[in-house]
Amino acid sequence: MSENIESVLHEERVFQPPQSFVAEARLNADSLAALHRQAAEDYEGFWAERAREEITWQTPFNTTLDESDAPHYHWFTDGHLNVSYNCLDRHLAERGDKIAIVFEGEPGDTCTYTYRELHAEVCRFANALKAQGIRKSDRVIIYMPMIAEAVIAMQACARIGATHSVVFGGFSAEALRDRANDAGARMIITADGGHRGGKIVPLKAAVDEAIEHGTPSVEKVIVFERTRHGVPMVEGRDVRWQDAIAGQDDVCEPEWVDAEHPLFLLYTSGSTGKPKGIQHSSAGYLLQAILTNKWVFDLHDRDVYWCTADVGWITGHTYVAYGPLALGATQVIYEGAPTVPDGGRFWKVAADHGVTVFYTAPTAIRALMKLGDAFPQAHDLSKLRLLGTVGEPINPEAWMWYHRIIGGEHCPIVDTWWQTETGGHMIAPIPGAVATKPGSCTLALPGIIADVVDEQGNTIAEPDRGGYLVIRKPWPSMLRTVWGDDERYRKTYWGMFDGRFYLAGDSARRDADGYFWIMGRIDDVLNVSGHRLGTMEIESALAAHEAVAEAAVVGRPHDIKGEAIVAYVIMRGERPTGDNAVAMTKTLRDWVAKEIGPIAKPDEIRFTEGLPKTRSGKIMRRLLRSIAKGEIITSDISTLENEAVIAQLQGKA
Ligand code: WTA
Repeated sequence: MSENIESVLHEERVFQPPQSFVAEARLNADSLAALHRQAAEDYEGFWAERAREEITWQTPFNTTLDESDAPHYHWFTDGHLNVSYNCLDRHLAERGDKIAIVFEGEPGDTCTYTYRELHAEVCRFANALKAQGIRKSDRVIIYMPMIAEAVIAMQACARIGATHSVVFGGFSAEALRDRANDAGARMIITADGGHRGGKIVPLKAAVDEAIEHGTPSVEKVIVFERTRHGVPMVEGRDVRWQDAIAGQDDVCEPEWVDAEHPLFLLYTSGSTGKPKGIQHSSAGYLLQAILTNKWVFDLHDRDVYWCTADVGWITGHTYVAYGPLALGATQVIYEGAPTVPDGGRFWKVAADHGVTVFYTAPTAIRALMKLGDAFPQAHDLSKLRLLGTVGEPINPEAWMWYHRIIGGEHCPIVDTWWQTETGGHMIAPIPGAVATKPGSCTLALPGIIADVVDEQGNTIAEPDRGGYLVIRKPWPSMLRTVWGDDERYRKTYWGMFDGRFYLAGDSARRDADGYFWIMGRIDDVLNVSGHRLGTMEIESALAAHEAVAEAAVVGRPHDIKGEAIVAYVIMRGERPTGDNAVAMTKTLRDWVAKEIGPIAKPDEIRFTEGLPKTRSGKIMRRLLRSIAKGEIITSDISTLENEAVIAQLQGKA
């Protein structure tokens, strides 16, 4: 863990919540303290009260926490609800004509949906899903661009009790196939294509390829026409979205489901080669989505909210598809890249739609910061009142730029630590109550008992000493299991400390004020532009190429992406050099893009004749990481047969 510690600067600056903000904030220091006190005195009572206040139940629950099947914890078990009802129907009386979604496509097209219109569209599509044979508990893959219809599809699944699994549109046909098969999905909802970076992302073509390579459970494909570039349709299998909803009623009685009913699966990378399907509940998940949008984003009825995350990631679930809608907020959805047509696009979108609360990733902030201040300064960002970040530690330099140039020095910045597995924010500042420090996600939210412990599971009391980030008590929005693999769930998250607490997989330290500073992953997971990628996942993709004998993948610090991917590759034949190495590098990068997706393309490939291994044959990744960073190697590389290999690993030969 020590190597991660270096990457965290000691930061002394403290920013108090602006007085103007505190005056109108949903939570201030006193109300926050009261919540913490209640959670400390009566943990279950605290959560039961929140669940009764925030969720509209069809049947109220009696049991708050059921620990009989630990570590598969169940919350609010005998209660019944519908998540889509909570996001749409309950706003109709008061906010039917309020805008729910303002959509802007990358080409510049815009449209809006009021809550009443969104409700009607979701109902119509929910009825269409039923007409296509989709029933409660069926799994449905959603593989769409970042358009309003992606949210409509998710909400429609929730409405009929189907469990969706969104696959990021940047993942390849192979990745899509694996996820569809693991989930046993009966349907894929897609689009002909999406606009991204000035190009068309050919989603339907990828679906066709995935199915061609074998997805026995998939019966139907619904295709929304977005790019209209003319895609072939398979008779009997493919249905146009417009045809599917034609004649469907715009009222659809919600399917009332148990609190624990799986709302969705979302695949994410772990230590081993195969991504895991993180399974989330309905009620517990919804509760954290609501609470954190209130507490951390301080969402008010008058806000215009914009979270730039794609629905392919957990952030796009909790902070686009569910949370803001459950609060009846107005939100912006933007389809494309931040730099089309130029580096001012994000700021133009924010200004044009009067965005007040803005949430994005450090990688985007760093990339846009590099383009200079002129872009943001060309737009009126004065309506912004709160800024957020997620996905990786934000370096203080980027934090300060965000604060000064985007926030005009008057917006609190909420650095939110959480994971696909946690469902919603876990550690984050309450903007009207907690002072911020650039680079720290500050303190755990009420009801979340986060801690930093040593190998034995003892709390590390000493300030600034790194350890394992854990959560000591189950919480409502935690993952329920890994789809189809309970064993992996128990082992990964509860194995290390004998089921006593949840292991996040991150290292962290706490400073003298008790503030958390996330240091990085403790497992073999990379964080590239805020996206989780397993090193072994990329290694297996490389090794699947016929010319490759073995591969080892590590991360190297990168000033925009956070981490860059470096692959050490041993070929079956001769080690390529010169032009051959250049050509092979391109082949393998394209190969990985095809196997996983463009985000997993190695930034650098070094061809080698050997890899440093331990006596038991494990690749010495730590050493490879140091080599990738260009550090001088003094430790033992005696497992390597010859000295020349060291130069090869260093990329010098
Ligand atoms: C990292 C994204 C530092 C962390 C919501 C975590 C962060 C992983 C932060 C989860 C943050 C997320 N500061 N690191 N504010 N937020 N991370 O599942 O390593 O895509 O374990 O969820 O991202 O990534 P995931």
